[in-house]
Amino acid sequence: MNKNTKNRPLVAPSLLSADFSALAKDIKKVERAGADMLHVDIMDGHFVPNITIGPVVVKYVRKVTKLPLDVHLMIMNPGKYLDPFVAAGSDMLTVHIEVSSLKEIKAMSSKLRSKGVKFGVSLNPATPLSKIKPALKFVDFVLVMSVNPGFGGQAFIPSVLSKIRELRKIFKKDIAVDGGINSETGKLVREAGANILAAGSYIFGAKNVKKAIESLR
Ligand code: DX5
Ligand code: ZN
Repeated sequence: MNKNTKNRPLVAPSLLSADFSALAKDIKKVERAGADMLHVDIMDGHFVPNITIGPVVVKYVRKVTKLPLDVHLMIMNPGKYLDPFVAAGSDMLTVHIEVSSLKEIKAMSSKLRSKGVKFGVSLNPATPLSKIKPALKFVDFVLVMSVNPGFGGQAFIPSVLSKIRELRKIFKKDIAVDGGINSETGKLVREAGANILAAGSYIFGAKNVKKAIESLR
């Protein structure tokens, strides 16, 4: 992932805004349009007020694409569910700092590294950067939430820009941003130092998906 950090940001269409009755078709559509990876949102109805999918769907997504699967766990007790998501074919797994102790982060990091899966930590808009600082040395990337997690199609929260800027000063690896990303907010987060852009409604709602993806780079 790091090879792209300098110039070209990576675009991760979020399947939350895809048509789940025609998932393979929508996946092919973003794949052909130049997506770098697929962002897959896992919600448990406890950590966030919505429920989506589990490992069984990730396993079938894995079968229809070669793109890396960037699986965002918005769930309580993420450590308990890493194995099934790895077995389902996740290439990147993100857990939330709000529900993970440093001890758990360390254990998850060594488990995923031994399996060749990238490990990321995410923080909600209201969570201060200080909360993830001790975890940074155990992760491959940070996913900065720019909306309150739970639903697609929400408005970008501009106060996260300073958080991204601060993070970029102390963290040299990948910084992903998720929530309310479009061509304008995408430019702002790139300028702030982010290099992976997850976007759902902007990409899947676009008339021209290829143009939408290109406008994020
Ligand atoms: C929100 C999810 C996001 C969501 C983003 O809780 O984590 O990945 O799909 O959707 P948009 O891009 O529509 O804000
Ligand atoms: Zn997400």
